[in-house]
Order: sequence, then structure tokens, then C-alpha cells
Amino acid sequence: SFDVELAQSGQTVTVAEGQSIVEALAEIGVRIEVSCEQGICGTCLCDVLEGEPDHRDSFLTDEEKADGDQITLCCSRAKSSKLVLDL
Ligand code: FES
Repeated sequence: SFDVELAQSGQTVTVAEGQSIVEALAEIGVRIEVSCEQGICGTCLCDVLEGEPDHRDSFLTDEEKADGDQITLCCSRAKSSKLVLDL
């Protein structure tokens, strides 16, 4: 599991194994717009302010993935113990 902190609201939520970031955020009442939910469309793209994403999508380019400042919330996870998102 890893933690996701929302920079604008200050809320933090733990994302369990087998749970997506979108699902974890829904539990604290934060609704993320999604479409494909498979890492293809980019609808759920969000800026990352801190932490290292574990990209599981096929939307971002390899270069964008290496930059590590965006994440698809429907399927990607974290390599670091915490991600801080621009939400
Ligand atoms: Fe399509 Fe996340 S909803 S990439």
C-alpha cells in the first residue's frame, strides 16, 4: 500500500493493494473523472508534485513516464511510500 496526499485539500488516503487510486479517493468523497479505466485514454491524468509514480498506463510516453510529474489515477500506483497530487 501507499499513501496519497491531496495538496490542495490536505486530505490523505491510503491506497490498498488491489485498489486503484481512483477507488481510494472515492472512499473519501473525491470523485475523479474516468473513461477507459485501463490506462489508455488519459481522462484521469493528474499532476504529481512529490513522490515517484509506478506507471501502469499506455497513455503517457516513455519520456513523460520518466519525468514522473503526471500519473493516470485509474491504474498507476506508487514506487515511493507517498504521492502528493495536485488535487
Ligand atoms: Fe482512461 Fe485512466 S480513465 S487512462
